[in-house]
Amino acid sequence: MQLQLHTPLDMHLHLRQGEMLQNIAKCSSDFFSGAIIMPNTVPPVTTKEQLLGYKREILNNTSGFTPYMTLFFKNDYDKTFLQSVRDELTAIKLYPAGITTNSEGGVSGFGIEELEPTLQAMSELGIPLCIHGESDGFVMDREAEFMPIYESIAKNFPDLTIIMEHITTKAAVETLQKYDNLFATITLHHLYITLDDVAGGMLQPHLFCKPIAKRPEDKAALQSVAFSGHEKVMFGSDSAPHPRDKKESCGCAAGVFTAPVALPALAQIFEQNGALDKLQAFIGDNARRIYGVQAPEKTVTLEKKPFEVAQTYGGVVPMFAGQTLEWSVVQ
Ligand code: DOR
Ligand code: ZN
Repeated sequence: MQLQLHTPLDMHLHLRQGEMLQNIAKCSSDFFSGAIIMPNTVPPVTTKEQLLGYKREILNNTSGFTPYMTLFFKNDYDKTFLQSVRDELTAIKLYPAGITTNSEGGVSGFGIEELEPTLQAMSELGIPLCIHGESDGFVMDREAEFMPIYESIAKNFPDLTIIMEHITTKAAVETLQKYDNLFATITLHHLYITLDDVAGGMLQPHLFCKPIAKRPEDKAALQSVAFSGHEKVMFGSDSAPHPRDKKESCGCAAGVFTAPVALPALAQIFEQNGALDKLQAFIGDNARRIYGVQAPEKTVTLEKKPFEVAQTYGGVVPMFAGQTLEWSVVQ
């Protein structure tokens, strides 16, 4: 059995910089037509110069791949600045300060007055806002506690396209449906795992990420919205490579590296749930409509043939390392 995917897109991707980028970028560009590139580099991408430099670095290490560039949200971006960078920019990513990897320079107050000038300018210029939606509360409640902030931004800026990134809860699935201008990405790992897979037995550092995987009922809600091909939901891997010694260590870095296994693992779980016909919507069609992006045509063929996942790709341990998936990419 074969399956063709047209112009697959990854709407949330960490490619890092330097040697790491050189080692792992191919794991995305071999399989995807393009991706939204996260700006939590060191330092974060906050100027036009940095954005163009980072884009060049990605283009130099990939082929046939469109990097959709983002800026790291700052309260002091004004309309003149945003206008000057508009043509190079696909979205702006907002992180609460300190919530995850390299997010120390993020936002600490979520009052609408503080956010208003930048969000108003983004709304007028048609720049989508991507949000890492977590409070600083108890780790299992962080996403649910962030829902009032999503609602307040959605209500106050009805013309702003807002992407709830890597949603992990039933609460987020419900909020998503309440406002026309809310959309969401869902990762591969949150379709597969709950907290039990991370910490229910021996600790699995390669499955540790932010937001942390939640309860079975949350996973079921994510699966149901993804497997229905819901028009507001897109695939965003949040593939987040870290060096092996930063994962298998005391003080494990957050992030699951899924780029090399994403398409086969998605085909497997969509097929197991009788939803293979909805994968095309999830992997690209919805994203093209929501973001209005036109990625270069690329057809990826998958076949139902065992795929033995390597222990590392570019020196980084992927999800399903050493395991066998049911689908492989036809090279
Ligand atoms: O687990 C995560 N890793 N979550 C994020 O939000 C950031 C990412 C990273 O950059 O490592
Ligand atoms: Zn991320």
